[in-house]
Amino acid sequence: MDPSQVKLPPMKNLTVDNITENTIRINSLCQDPRTKYVLERLVTHLHDFARETRLSTAEWMTGIKFLTEVGQITTDVRQEFILLSDVLGLSILVDSIDHPKPPGSTEGTVLGPFHTHEAEELAYGGSMSHDPKGEPLLVVCTLRDMQGNPIEGVKIDIWETDSSGHYDVQYAGRDGPDGRCVLRSDNSGVFWFNAITPVPYPIPHDGPVGQLLKKLHRHPYRPSHMHFMFEKEGFDHLITALYLRNDPYETSDAVFGVKDSLVVDLGKAGPEYAKKYNVSEDHALLKYDFVLVSDEETSELRARNSKIALDKLGRKVKIVNGLPVPELD
Ligand SMILES: [Fe+2]
Repeated sequence: MDPSQVKLPPMKNLTVDNITENTIRINSLCQDPRTKYVLERLVTHLHDFARETRLSTAEWMTGIKFLTEVGQITTDVRQEFILLSDVLGLSILVDSIDHPKPPGSTEGTVLGPFHTHEAEELAYGGSMSHDPKGEPLLVVCTLRDMQGNPIEGVKIDIWETDSSGHYDVQYAGRDGPDGRCVLRSDNSGVFWFNAITPVPYPIPHDGPVGQLLKKLHRHPYRPSHMHFMFEKEGFDHLITALYLRNDPYETSDAVFGVKDSLVVDLGKAGPEYAKKYNVSEDHALLKYDFVLVSDEETSELRARNSKIALDKLGRKVKIVNGLPVPELD
């Protein structure tokens, strides 16, 4: 669209007091209501941030330089922007908004920057880790819907670090995927595999995000955890992780991912599991029952939460394609 064809006031003589209104006005040429709404709120908060902090040119330039460095260090296997979003608490916030979980379902948590799409399918009982120094761990899980029915054929991505706290992608010249796999749940909703006991690790802190944490006097550690991602048509995509209880960083995760419902105690296989899964009786065991929410249940809950949250802010909205846009009279 040619802006000169649209009736707009002249965009000049803009001041601290009228720049926001005028920026929003020219952006309102946008034909997509959701993009228009998101940009309107973004510009409003960005401008208010500058006005409230009395942002100096030097600070603005520091911010530009910082974001430039975040982009420059980002590669196919190092995602510094996700890391930045994680340490600012934005990732866990967006996940909580977009993937609301009703009581009784498995809560989500941060994706983190280390998921890849190259993990290989593993047969039940196979090992996702080839680290001889790791403590062997048997993992046995079930997968059900909110009504308690087993869910068959869910694609499950699982990933964890090696025993030194590094993901495979953090090694230059690695041969291929390690510490990650893909499984499918069976007709009883069960899946099981061998792994190693997770260990705490620092998020990559040799780049701009690490420098920011240092400046903020924050440590870069994440508590011991194993990531899980569940996908099946008809169910809300679940990205979550299980955390080991009593980890030194359980209450100070650098990326705010820990939730009580996701904290687990490791047990021992004992005679029954030892026999069934062909491991020794004192083999470490992780058991967990995951509960997925249907797309329909999630959409309803998401829309309801949006209405309630925006009502509180005094905004009249309608839900279009699952997301709120202003309701225009
Ligand atoms: Fe992780």
